[in-house]
Amino acid sequence: MIVQAAGLLLLGLVASCRGGFNPVTVNISLDEDPEVRWAPITKAFDVEYLKKAAAEVIDTTVPKWVHHAVTPIVKALEKYVPQPYAGEIRGIAKQVGGSISDILILNFAYEISAFCTSIVAQDTNGTVYHGRNLDYPHAVLRNMTMDVIFLKNGKVAYRGTSFAGYVGLWTGQSPNKFTISGDQRGSEHWWNWWKNVVSALFFRRTPVSWLVRETLQEAEDFQEAVMRLSKIPIITGVYYIVGGVRAGEGAVITRDRKGPADIWPLIPINGGWYRVETNFDHWLPPPARDHRRDAANKALNATGQDHINMETLYQVLSLYPVCNGRTVYTTIMSAAAPEKYNTLVRPQGCPPN
Ligand SMILES: *[C@@H]1O[C@H](CO)[C@@H](O)[C@H](O)[C@H]1NC(C)=O
Ligand SMILES: *[C@@H]1O[C@H](CO)[C@@H](O)[C@H](O)[C@H]1NC(C)=O
Ligand SMILES: *[C@@H]1O[C@H](CO)[C@@H](O)[C@H](O)[C@H]1NC(C)=O
Ligand SMILES: *[C@@H]1O[C@H](CO)[C@@H](O)[C@H](O)[C@H]1NC(C)=O
Repeated sequence: MIVQAAGLLLLGLVASCRGGFNPVTVNISLDEDPEVRWAPITKAFDVEYLKKAAAEVIDTTVPKWVHHAVTPIVKALEKYVPQPYAGEIRGIAKQVGGSISDILILNFAYEISAFCTSIVAQDTNGTVYHGRNLDYPHAVLRNMTMDVIFLKNGKVAYRGTSFAGYVGLWTGQSPNKFTISGDQRGSEHWWNWWKNVVSALFFRRTPVSWLVRETLQEAEDFQEAVMRLSKIPIITGVYYIVGGVRAGEGAVITRDRKGPADIWPLIPINGGWYRVETNFDHWLPPPARDHRRDAANKALNATGQDHINMETLYQVLSLYPVCNGRTVYTTIMSAAAPEKYNTLVRPQGCPPN
């Protein structure tokens, strides 16, 4: 009874921070050449706005020396950046009318300061749900958010949510197989962060969001997705949250650059019917000022395994401070019901109650 009452209270509270809009959906055909396949973004977005927004993101997150440091990479793009990304970045620069260097840097700029909350949960019937908030300190990104459907042979190969001009994915779904979200790990000083990233590029390490896309494209099922996301070397640490289609298929992977630091699966029979990951190792307490994890845990406990579904998961992700002033979008997905994939952009984020 108490749990029920708490659940109802929860429903009342979130009403204040509901609202949001579905972003534009663009279809990207993988059958087309990488250099032309992103052309649909120039129809879906105002190119002048995109250029201004990109300049703002670059000015506020990228140290000036990085522009010089990437010059040799841009000159021999195909040598350092694998396909299809080299071609896609080259193509986007052409279509939007920017320099290759700016588009390349922009693609790395989004890898930093992506604060997020991801939740994977299983209901009493064994259905797995996966939700994520993407928090980012740039309001302009709300107007650059898009759902992307990647088509192969005219069929949906996988889909995700991204920003115009960005070729990686932080959120995505391989239909009837699995879903993935990425949350930033660690708070290295941005100056050091850029040093590591630029040097990793010279070693051809994969950005964390490219590995998400590759996994969506290549992995046959949840197990294989977890294996790839755990093992393949990447440029920085990250948390990968993965949901599958069968009971028990859910996990949080804590990544070091070279491999897994920890894998935290759902264990529903032991009460572990959900896992919440923000931006801190789950076995350590979060910083005292950050209450997102605790708030999400409380809300999930109040919801209960018998009431978790797409709608109640969205409500948990709408609660302050799980959703906050920096929240750009929320995506709710369940690989077993791929048509229900839903992203809502939060026009104002979520103000404190
Ligand atoms: C995108 O592709 C899907 C799947 O083929 C199709 O149903 C939809 O109409 C397409 N949307 C646009 C805008 O072309
Ligand atoms: C986003 O677009 C809306 C509608 O075009 C506009 O009113 C708003 O100012 C834009 N927001 C930002 C941060 O640019
Ligand atoms: C949620 O419930 C679990 C299991 O009963 C409990 O261990 C945990 O402390 C609860 N968390 C919060 C934040 O209430
Ligand atoms: C489980 O499945 C049954 C039968 O399909 C349905 O009535 C019930 O609402 C489901 N329970 C949950 C928690 O989804």
